[in-house]
Amino acid sequence: MTNHTPTPRSQDPEDIQKRDFIKGVTAAILGFLSLALTWPLVSFLIPSSNEGAAGKFLKVPNFPKIPTGTPTRMTTAEDVDTQAFITTKVVYDIWVIKHAADKATVYSTLCPHLNCRYNFDSTKDVFACPCHGSVFNEDGKCIAGPAPRPLDTLPYKIEGGELYVQYKLFKAGIPEKIEA
Ligand code: FES
Repeated sequence: MTNHTPTPRSQDPEDIQKRDFIKGVTAAILGFLSLALTWPLVSFLIPSSNEGAAGKFLKVPNFPKIPTGTPTRMTTAEDVDTQAFITTKVVYDIWVIKHAADKATVYSTLCPHLNCRYNFDSTKDVFACPCHGSVFNEDGKCIAGPAPRPLDTLPYKIEGGELYVQYKLFKAGIPEKIEA
């Protein structure tokens, strides 16, 4: 039978220092690993402040420069907290028809049929969706295709000549305009 006698630990100050250093590094690695493993749960439990742009008026750059009467695709953006402590820039695109310096129509770019992005056909002065053929006039009315309602307008305000838009999403495929 073999007798295992514990090896006495060195009391040399240099060895003690090394052991403390190794302990510290090991603790740091374990701490990092446990944070990495539990972070998805922690970040899920911390309420995110990402509520999209709903409710906020976001500035649409260049509104004073766009032509009157021509549907113009524009963008607006905001910084949102997608995870705790992480900020991301989210860009929203919109269709704007400027009627005057203080008047416009703003549409969501998503087709109310099934949320494809539609385009403006300047040869026919209509908005046309490439997915299932819905066609809308500039007033947003569906004049062909399966879309169950007109284009979705977005709330806006014009202050100091600048356009501000509240970006919203709406439920697709139903006759009523209901926020998603
Ligand atoms: S998504 Fe536009 S017609 Fe179907």
